[in-house]
Amino acid sequence: MRNAQWRSDDDEEPRSNGLTMPAADGSPTLPDLPVLDILSAEKIFPNGTRALAPIDLSIGRNEFVSLIGPSGCGKSTLLKLVANLYEPSDGRIVWWQSNFSRVGEPGRRLAFVFQDPTLMPWAPVETNVRLPLDLAGTPKAESMPRVQAALAQVGLERHARHHPGQLSGGMKMRVSIARALVTDPDLLLMDEPFGALDEFTRNKLDDDLVRLSWERRLTTVFVTHSLYEAVFLSTRIVIMAANPGRIFAQLTVDEPQPRGDAFRNSERFAHLCRQLSSLLHAASLESAGGR
Ligand SMILES: Nc1ncnc2c1ncn2[C@@H]1O[C@H](COP(=O)(O)OP(=O)(O)O)[C@@H](O)[C@H]1O
Ligand SMILES: [Mg+2]
Repeated sequence: MRNAQWRSDDDEEPRSNGLTMPAADGSPTLPDLPVLDILSAEKIFPNGTRALAPIDLSIGRNEFVSLIGPSGCGKSTLLKLVANLYEPSDGRIVWWQSNFSRVGEPGRRLAFVFQDPTLMPWAPVETNVRLPLDLAGTPKAESMPRVQAALAQVGLERHARHHPGQLSGGMKMRVSIARALVTDPDLLLMDEPFGALDEFTRNKLDDDLVRLSWERRLTTVFVTHSLYEAVFLSTRIVIMAANPGRIFAQLTVDEPQPRGDAFRNSERFAHLCRQLSSLLHAASLESAGGR
């Protein structure tokens, strides 16, 4: 299902390879800018917890980067720094080669999906999905077609009038994803969005997320506990260690998109999962040895 009506004209550029390509005048052109540059960003909470040692990480357009690592290694903290929900204690984060004040402009939109779908239980699905547009003051005549398109993209077009209480856990998460998609994001941040779901439902949502990321040419940073999910979804996996939180290793998953069951059932998938499993094991040994 292709649904490109929300893309602005400047998206009709060739796909980025994630590298900066200077224009004729020497300035970088928007589509080829790195989406995120995390430059020695560190986080120490006021209570003294050193959640993140300096982190350096650059993420290019159309990358799907998963963060994985033992509990407490700072995955959520890193994602919140990227969302500008937290300030780094030191270092800085650059979004599309600019500061956060430019985020929200066309081609530079960011959306966050949390593990808990956090829906308004009294409001129908369509009102829940429309919320970010209402908050931005978008007229209803303009927002409703966008809400319907977002619901269609997550397979919930027939549930617009249902209330959250009538939906399964997987469907609620789809509503939460539609609420992110309705803002037409370029950068999607997801913190263990499918962690509370059973494996069958999770695989189904993973399949849809792979398709959506591909069709919408999203850049995604995704936190997960599941090494299978990380391998299936990611173009790159960042393995973190704790005490203090840091990048331990990275694994590139050089498998064409969009992916499906053929990849999931391949020997290559099993091999990558084994590789990731041993890296995670080493990361947790490092984490225990720290502090
Ligand atoms: N608001 C906070 N205040 C103090 N410490 C925090 C806060 N949030 C997280 N931490 C601590 O920072 C570390 C990293 O937490 P977090 O980013 O939630 O890890 P993860 O998501 O990888 O499980 C943990 O030790 C956690 O207890
Ligand atoms: Mg977390």
